[in-house]
Amino acid sequence: MNNHMSFDEWDEELAPERAADTDFDAVMSRRYFLKGAAALGASAFVMTAGVTSNTAMAASKAGFRFKPIAASTADTILLPEGFTSQIVVRWGDPLTSSTPEFNHQTRGTAASQMTAAGDNNDGMDIFDVEGRTVLVINNEYTNRSITFGNRESKLPETDDDVNKGKMAHGLTVVELAERNGQWEVVKDSPYNRRVTPETPFDVVGPVRGSALIKTSRDPAGTEILGTFNNCGNGMTPWGTYLACEENFNGYFSSSEGENFVQTSEQQRYGIAKGGKDWGYKWAQTDDRFDVSKEPNEVHRHGWVVEVDPSGQRKPVKLTALGRFKHENAEVVIADNGRAVVYLGDDERGEFLYRFVSRDTYSPTGDNSRLLHEGELFVAKFHDDGRGEWISLNKAGMAKDETSVFARVAASKVGATTMDRPEWVAANPHKAEAYVALTNNKYRGERDSQPLNMANPRAKNPYGHIVRWVPDRGNHAADAFAWDMYVMAGNPMVHDDLMAGSSNITAENMFNSPDGLKFDSAGNLWIQTDGNYSNEKGFAGMGNNQMLMGDPETGEIHRFLVGPRECEITGLTWSLDRKTMFVGVQHPGEKGDSHWPEGGDAVPRSAVIAVKRTDGGVIG
Ligand code: FEO
Ligand code: CA
Ligand code: CA
Repeated sequence: MNNHMSFDEWDEELAPERAADTDFDAVMSRRYFLKGAAALGASAFVMTAGVTSNTAMAASKAGFRFKPIAASTADTILLPEGFTSQIVVRWGDPLTSSTPEFNHQTRGTAASQMTAAGDNNDGMDIFDVEGRTVLVINNEYTNRSITFGNRESKLPETDDDVNKGKMAHGLTVVELAERNGQWEVVKDSPYNRRVTPETPFDVVGPVRGSALIKTSRDPAGTEILGTFNNCGNGMTPWGTYLACEENFNGYFSSSEGENFVQTSEQQRYGIAKGGKDWGYKWAQTDDRFDVSKEPNEVHRHGWVVEVDPSGQRKPVKLTALGRFKHENAEVVIADNGRAVVYLGDDERGEFLYRFVSRDTYSPTGDNSRLLHEGELFVAKFHDDGRGEWISLNKAGMAKDETSVFARVAASKVGATTMDRPEWVAANPHKAEAYVALTNNKYRGERDSQPLNMANPRAKNPYGHIVRWVPDRGNHAADAFAWDMYVMAGNPMVHDDLMAGSSNITAENMFNSPDGLKFDSAGNLWIQTDGNYSNEKGFAGMGNNQMLMGDPETGEIHRFLVGPRECEITGLTWSLDRKTMFVGVQHPGEKGDSHWPEGGDAVPRSAVIAVKRTDGGVIG
């Protein structure tokens, strides 16, 4: 295996080898594609008509204006004039005064990592905990060639290496304070802590006590150790943090090696193909990660977890929200008081989900159990611009199986296969939501994903963003109308559907939308995790970036460009909305960055703070 292969690239190599949902036929697909493209030109792109490419200044709904910036391949953060940034917290930064500073030679130890910021920061949110500013950050994964770059093999070699990598996963909870205009970590804050692959979680919802999750350590099936590969996140109106377990499959291997034979469910979830993990070797120090020794352990991961930022309540695994490769969890309170959670499953050909709570939200009451029970639905997009949410209960499976094998249930009820659903964002000012479909580079190779109007490109290297409006403005309604907000593309290289929709121009082009979040004023922020080669079909796009989209006009403007080989992911705001915190993940994942410290420094993922130089609000 190529040690510079990203986790996503590896995952795409090994999965999915799915049973055919429909017969795939290249000729039929091309016909469908042409018909679809024509129809898209006539209807779905209408909302973007009139967008001009040379807007000198972008006006945000929060009242600030900026001059959109050019693409770049520089190893730095670029922002429009009138904005500044600083580093807030990097991988390995100490959370306590007794933790050593990050060591660029050793890159830390298991012990130092347990009280230092985790690696590869992803989704995050800020909480006001008793008047303090507490930032909760997902630490999605680690880059083997960087974390273990002090080893010849660029892989974990000792048990301490394995455990160091493990402890770099999970969540970082850290108090921040602003002193002399600079944000800094409050070392030794009582709120500072790590949530790791060893932290105990209570199981709540339909899978609590199920035989599917019983293991030798937990014969009752009620308590699970650990969360890992936490990708996007969510924030509830009752002040808790949701962390989403995404590529949990990559941590499991089999002591049977190549003789290991996957069950059909393990195959669907990409578990231990050929007996192999991604190279983290967690089974070397922990039998839980050997699927041949603990076959049910894999059923205990791939959930959304709910965490109390103050640390007072024990965290829980929310099994009613289904088990898949969770991207983020966008929570809205529907008109009828139910909590609705939108959920993407980030894998080629997987689905978009919606959870609706059984009970209703109480603005003054205890909502701590609201996400414990409810109904899980999956989206079916019809080609006429309508769509529906289909209950997974219709799959006819037992309740615990429906949750643990949500993908299987969703296939049975006829969900629409999607081009890798990443983040979902709901507009705080009107009933509508957006999902980033990041890309689908390999459709038709080893799979049978049919084309449909919501995913209309036969090969989709650029990605797109689909939007839906729930019927009657009620997010709990079972039908919706949808359209295309943007199809990313390159109008300088292509003149067909690969050029992108009409709101893509030479000035704002990007690929692989991933992070999506609305600010309080109603600006849609788009973060990218794509091809940063700046060549061929990606020429002119530069490094990964963040753009601001206007939901009404469809205009999109580039606001920030990240350093080399990073992805931009994770976004939140200070309590006074004058600072925007942005995540820079895996700079130099293939070896070409020393950000943020420069020189010969080890590149480190970091959260940055972005402000206006005039001190105004920024969303
Ligand atoms: Fe962790 Fe799908 O991004
Ligand atoms: Ca992502
Ligand atoms: Ca991604």
